Amino acid sequence: MISDAAPSDLDEIVTLAEHRRTEHERAQPQFWRPADAAAEVHRPWLAELIEDPDVVSLVVTDRPGPGGLKGYLFATVVPAPPVYDPGGSTGFIDDFHLADSELWATDGVALLTQARQRLAPRQVSQIVVVCGHHEGAKAAALVGAGLSVASEWYVGPLARDQNDQAPVEIDWYLGPRADLRHLFELAEDSQVQLDGYLDLGRVLVARTGADLIGHLQLVPTSRPNEIEVKNMAVVPGRRGTGVGLALVSDAIQRCATQGWSRMVVATAAADVGNLRFYQRVGFRLLSVERDAFDAASGYPEPIVIDGIPLLDRVWFELALA
Ligand SMILES: CC(C)(COP(=O)(O)OP(=O)(O)OC[C@H]1O[C@@H](n2cnc3c(N)ncnc32)[C@H](O)[C@@H]1OP(=O)(O)O)[C@@H](O)C(=O)NCCC(=O)NCCS
Repeated sequence: MISDAAPSDLDEIVTLAEHRRTEHERAQPQFWRPADAAAEVHRPWLAELIEDPDVVSLVVTDRPGPGGLKGYLFATVVPAPPVYDPGGSTGFIDDFHLADSELWATDGVALLTQARQRLAPRQVSQIVVVCGHHEGAKAAALVGAGLSVASEWYVGPLARDQNDQAPVEIDWYLGPRADLRHLFELAEDSQVQLDGYLDLGRVLVARTGADLIGHLQLVPTSRPNEIEVKNMAVVPGRRGTGVGLALVSDAIQRCATQGWSRMVVATAAADVGNLRFYQRVGFRLLSVERDAFDAASGYPEPIVIDGIPLLDRVWFELALA
């Protein structure tokens, strides 16, 4: 059911938008690194859009009342830049998201159709929809609805200050483990699980100057001479710059020197980026643990990573000898 967005929809729209930022950050952590208190900043902005009669604000729900929101679309009318003449104004659709990628072909297209109908009488000659490069189902729905790609953005990091250029230094962490919890949470969705292993083993940290930019936790397993990379993460603004590789390489070297013969690591099958990362740093596939992320294991809410439900855990191994 599609209707005009109302102030009573705001809470659910803010939550869904927060979810969208998480997905975007996973796909492109540099460009979509969320600002501090992003949801609090977004809320008044969305509230203004909902109240603005010049903005087309739509929601799709599966039942009336709270808890039924499946998606939203906001379209603003903007003039063309002076050097282009597309024949009228542009209906610009940036905030456009659905709770589940499977809904794009149905609810997504329905929202778009409704937005087009609302924009048509307003001297609007075209619509422009923003779509992340990783949002395959959304892109397919847009193409299916008759839209085509006009432009793409390519993003690369630039060093912002001296700390970004300073060499990365890796060493054992000796401080209170609780001070690293925010880093561990980047790689662990279950607080219950994290409580159970945060204090185990030893932790390597990567620093540039005074900044802590990554960590890697090593915990011996119950098998002889085998050690596990239990948790690792790099802060979003420094991903893709070799810090993760440096941490793993350092851990391999230290563990080999200390006589460990095998390193193992597990990650979510749904996180395709991590599957690539561990293979790029030399790990080989070992086994699959089905349904490892269920409620009984401390993951009460269903989690979807880039359109793939978080269900199975994949184990990798690396021979150290
Ligand atoms: C996984 C993680 C630690 C990788 O660290 P990083 O510093 O970004 O990785 P690096 O820059 O050293 O990358 C090493 C290689 O892996 C690749 N890689 C790293 N992250 C990737 C991703 N998300 N998707 C695809 N490739 C990726 C890099 O492209 C590089 O390969 P290349 O030389 O062919 O380009 C980091 O993305 C992270 O903190 N993620 C969130 C937490 C998490 O998921 N931790 C792992 C839990 S098991």
